[in-house]
Amino acid sequence: MNQSRLLKLYPAPHAECALEGLYLDDPIGHPDSDEVPFVYTNFICSLDGRIAVENPRAGRRSAPPAITNPRDWRLFQELAARADALIVSAAFVRGLAEGRSGEKLPLGQDPAFDDLHAWRRERGMPPQPAMVILSRSLDLRIAERCKSLQRQLYFAIGNDVALDDAAAVEATGARILIAGSGQHVEGRALIDALGLAGFRRIYSIAGPRVLHTLLKDGVLHRLYLTHFHRLLAGQSFDTLLEGETLDPPASFVPRTLYYDQDAKDSAGQFFAAYDIR
Ligand SMILES: NC(=O)c1ccc[n+]([C@@H]2O[C@H](COP(=O)([O-])OP(=O)(O)OC[C@H]3O[C@@H](n4cnc5c(N)ncnc54)[C@H](OP(=O)(O)O)[C@@H]3O)[C@@H](O)[C@H]2O)c1
Repeated sequence: MNQSRLLKLYPAPHAECALEGLYLDDPIGHPDSDEVPFVYTNFICSLDGRIAVENPRAGRRSAPPAITNPRDWRLFQELAARADALIVSAAFVRGLAEGRSGEKLPLGQDPAFDDLHAWRRERGMPPQPAMVILSRSLDLRIAERCKSLQRQLYFAIGNDVALDDAAAVEATGARILIAGSGQHVEGRALIDALGLAGFRRIYSIAGPRVLHTLLKDGVLHRLYLTHFHRLLAGQSFDTLLEGETLDPPASFVPRTLYYDQDAKDSAGQFFAAYDIR
């Protein structure tokens, strides 16, 4: 196989294909209706299931440097190019505000992603997807610091969250969505509210608790999962999903599987996509 290309393993027949454009061409949405929001997420994990490990420099966990790589990053950006709205966690946005994860917010400004900006322009989409922050508090400092991100900003909160700063937050241009009874945001209320606001393709780039919020209420439609072919171990880590046992468990059907033979230092990765059953 040409090393710059991927091998499609599923569905049959096997075929070589290009990395660039792989997820730009993937149908994202409900085949029979474009009126209903379609919710998808994306993770990279090691073979022992790590999505984040301790990062001594950042003083918190972050995606494992031993498995992150530009080829997976390209697909992460393609999925963001497809989105009307990104769901992010309050923890991620605090990192943005402190300048820790600034360059991680898609769509990136790297010239390598110029084609993705053009892709959105050609379809009349806003330059950047809206950003929806899931939080247990309304943080005015975050709203002020996010003003420079040049995208529509939403805070999603539960109805027990104090609204003392609501007017000041809205004065920054951010909007507030009440989406849950209690301190936490609930998946169904969140996606219904985003649907009413006109969003159709909703991409969660948050971590294990937000994924649980979406799965618990049965509102996730697709999981893009990069399985990097390395084992990491270590004592401090995050896995894909955190929260109470899902009952019933979430079942998925494989949609596509691609083999990327030489992703990083001779280690490879599978790009898998699963639809919820
Ligand atoms: N490898 C990968 O592909 C990948 C992908 C995503 C994330 N990660 C990593 O995973 C780690 C965790 O990421 P994360 O912090 O984004 O994950 P998370 O566990 O999904 O989110 C936790 C944060 O979101 C807020 N939150 C979550 N669910 C909420 C709900 N239902 N209602 C209200 N607020 C809610 C919490 O707010 P409060 O602070 O108010 O409690 C908290 O800040 C990080 O190290 C990240 O780098 C890796």
